[in-house]
Amino acid sequence: MNFASDNIMGASPPVLQALVRANEGPLPAYGADPLTRAIERRFCELFEHEVAVFLVPTGTGANALALAAIVPPFGLAISHREAHVIDDECGAPEFYMHGAKMAGLEGVGAKIAPSTLESFLAGLPNHVKQMPPRGLSISQATECGLVYTPAEVAALAGIAHRSGMKLHMDGARFANALVRLGCTPAEMTWKSGVDVLSFGATKNGCLAAEAILAFDGQAAETLAYRRKRGGHLLSKGRLIAAQLEGYFADDHWLANARHANAMATRLAEGLTALPGVRLAWAVEANEVFPILPRALDAKLKAAGAVYHPWSELSLRDGERVRSDEVLVRLVTAFCTTEAQVDGFLRAAREAARAEAAE
Ligand SMILES: Cc1ncc(COP(=O)(O)O)c(C=O)c1O
Repeated sequence: MNFASDNIMGASPPVLQALVRANEGPLPAYGADPLTRAIERRFCELFEHEVAVFLVPTGTGANALALAAIVPPFGLAISHREAHVIDDECGAPEFYMHGAKMAGLEGVGAKIAPSTLESFLAGLPNHVKQMPPRGLSISQATECGLVYTPAEVAALAGIAHRSGMKLHMDGARFANALVRLGCTPAEMTWKSGVDVLSFGATKNGCLAAEAILAFDGQAAETLAYRRKRGGHLLSKGRLIAAQLEGYFADDHWLANARHANAMATRLAEGLTALPGVRLAWAVEANEVFPILPRALDAKLKAAGAVYHPWSELSLRDGERVRSDEVLVRLVTAFCTTEAQVDGFLRAAREAARAEAAE
């Protein structure tokens, strides 16, 4: 009954098998190997675009390097105030941007609304003493499990580009958002105006494999050096490429994401059937954010369930969590089974029955 995150899981078998295959024999180091070359080509095909690809082992590394490639040291990088880049990366983006600052905007479900971005930009003094906005970062899916449609991405990209900013997408849960939207990788990114993407694969079946994709030529120019200088270029680069080979083969990545999303929906349907349980945000990817009666939460924890409490900062207007309730996050993964979900729901139903009887 562990729904703490999707990164608590190991790798999926096709990814591990590809790693074992790639282990054989000598190959050139630092990404000059044929496996890395093949993955670079694969990304170009998948995204229907010539794209510069930089493989890295962590999402924080991908985000920090991507933002540094589009925001100069005197610039401002904007994200939602609860975005991973501003809240959960120990200042890595600011560190790699060498002095640039991050500004956090409000928004329901950790999504930035175009009107919020516009009024924030309109309120910025246009003076040499102020840091000019140069980068906008959005998370797909968001920290509240919602997805931006291509039209929503395009609306933000339009404002960003008109204001001299480039658009970064933190795609830690890229595949989960993609299968939810049913669009193509191209539609969700460069066709909607994304300039740089952190393509996440670790949460959805890899061990440690992420890629920075630069659709923007200028950003691509510096990324190779930034990655090496920042210590994110693996000498045995084939190990990241091999994971991605296993990940993409036979659309394994899409199947993984569909499964994780379906498990989240199953979990949400079961939970909301219980008295006093409602969702803080719709389930659009592989995360469920129920508001639980505190007594139910305590009983679930006592029964061995593992999940995290969550922030109330991005609730819908008019929604609030009462003092006898708690907002929590449950995350499903590519390998979460129906039996695990049903076991958790059984425990929740028993806890709710016991609570009613007390
Ligand atoms: C939205 C988001 N971005 C990026 C990351 C990647 O972080 P890490 O550096 O732990 O791979 C995570 C992981 O939790 C995340 O949830």
